[in-house]
Amino acid sequence: MVILENVTTSTHQTKQQKYKLLLQQIRDIVSHEDDLIANFGNIAAVVHHTMGFDWTGFYLIKNGELVLGPFQGPAAVSRIPLGKGVCGTSYAKECTIIVDDVEQFAGYVPCSELDKSEISLPAFHKGEVALIFNINSHKMKNFDDTDKRYLEELMHLLEEIL
Ligand code: SME
Repeated sequence: MVILENVTTSTHQTKQQKYKLLLQQIRDIVSHEDDLIANFGNIAAVVHHTMGFDWTGFYLIKNGELVLGPFQGPAAVSRIPLGKGVCGTSYAKECTIIVDDVEQFAGYVPCSELDKSEISLPAFHKGEVALIFNINSHKMKNFDDTDKRYLEELMHLLEEIL
């Protein structure tokens, strides 16, 4: 049995350093387990707790709509149609979306009234979006190009195991 160690991060580490350690830990997680749901659960947990996010989780594409998968944080909406909200738009446009202020995003689907900013990223299987990884923050403008760069690297890592 593999015992998962939490990545040791400190306030002295930059966001970039934390993401680098996180990606190493996630490579280790997926190299020891081939069950997707087990891996998604642990990935949501380590990203959420290492980076200090307020909601971190997966929406899986099922029959053309987003269905809630493993996550960390408060209960969230179970299903999101294609094109709806930040996640459904990331699915429809097949790209990463960063929202600095959720109140300015038309059609935003709220999960917590405390959420202020978010990022949604697609991962692909056989040329189609297979899942959306969504992260919310209670801080405005919490996500930048560094988050986009490393979380897109995480999506590529996931694409290797989908
Ligand atoms: N805010 C998202 C919905 C998912 S939750 O925030 C977890 C959206 O607009 O798609």
